[in-house]
Amino acid sequence: MIFDALTIFPGLFTAFLAESLLAKALAKGLLTFNLVNPRDFTKDKRQTVDDRPYGGGPGMVLLAEPLALALESLSQIDPTPSHVIYLTPSGPTLTQAKVQELATKPRLTLVCGRYEGVDQRFVDLFVNEEISIGDYVVSGGEVPAMVVVEAVTRSLPGFLGQSESLREESHSYGLLEHPHYTRPKTFRGLTVPSLLLSGHHAQIAAYRLAEAMAKTRSLRPDLLLRPEFEATALSALTRPGSPLATKTLKKRKALK
Ligand SMILES: C[S@@+](CC[C@H](N)C(=O)[O-])C[C@H]1O[C@@H](n2cnc3c(N)ncnc32)[C@H](O)[C@@H]1O
Repeated sequence: MIFDALTIFPGLFTAFLAESLLAKALAKGLLTFNLVNPRDFTKDKRQTVDDRPYGGGPGMVLLAEPLALALESLSQIDPTPSHVIYLTPSGPTLTQAKVQELATKPRLTLVCGRYEGVDQRFVDLFVNEEISIGDYVVSGGEVPAMVVVEAVTRSLPGFLGQSESLREESHSYGLLEHPHYTRPKTFRGLTVPSLLLSGHHAQIAAYRLAEAMAKTRSLRPDLLLRPEFEATALSALTRPGSPLATKTLKKRKALK
């Protein structure tokens, strides 16, 4: 998969791309990452990338022209057509379902805004989709772009060591994941639930599902009423023989 980021602060990506699973995936050739700086496509001596907003108001707006030239330069690096995303707090919020959809694209180009954002004409002409990482405002699109990259790459075949860890994660079944424990058995007076030490795999699976349900009901009851829960969690929970199926469906009905 190919990722591109359009950013006036490419240095922010240096450590991000040099560490952990992403660095390994880059080394293995599972993905490529192109960084393009609109500042390199300016024509004036000061390399201006922003200007005051028409109509007045505080702050600066990123100019459309350097962004457009930077974006167009990407086809010379690689001709693969791209899905262009502008990270913005006014876009729809990123979800796991959207992440999985994005993971099927051959190429994603992530446009990182700064200041008050980008000239709307750039968005109108070049952007396929706007995405927000949540209902709050950060100072630039770089961290939101990294969030998209971190979420999408986890879904790429061969990216994670154990495909198991992806299947059971929070949001993949419309539920939050069950709590985890590791050594030692007792930590500052708190002991690991004894069933987890029993070796009874079926009972452990049922216990974890019940824990995931309880955690979701307590921390994010809104998830139980979402279409994602309907589509994925219900089918997973109602697998023939699942002892929790009826109970879970009843709990959900009660929440409605
Ligand atoms: C300070 S913000 C601009 C906020 C903008 N004036 C507004 O009120 O919608 C600068 C840039 O950070 C990025 N950004 C900030 N919050 C974001 C969020 N929640 N999701 C995605 N991108 C965000 C966007 O690229 C945005 O153009």
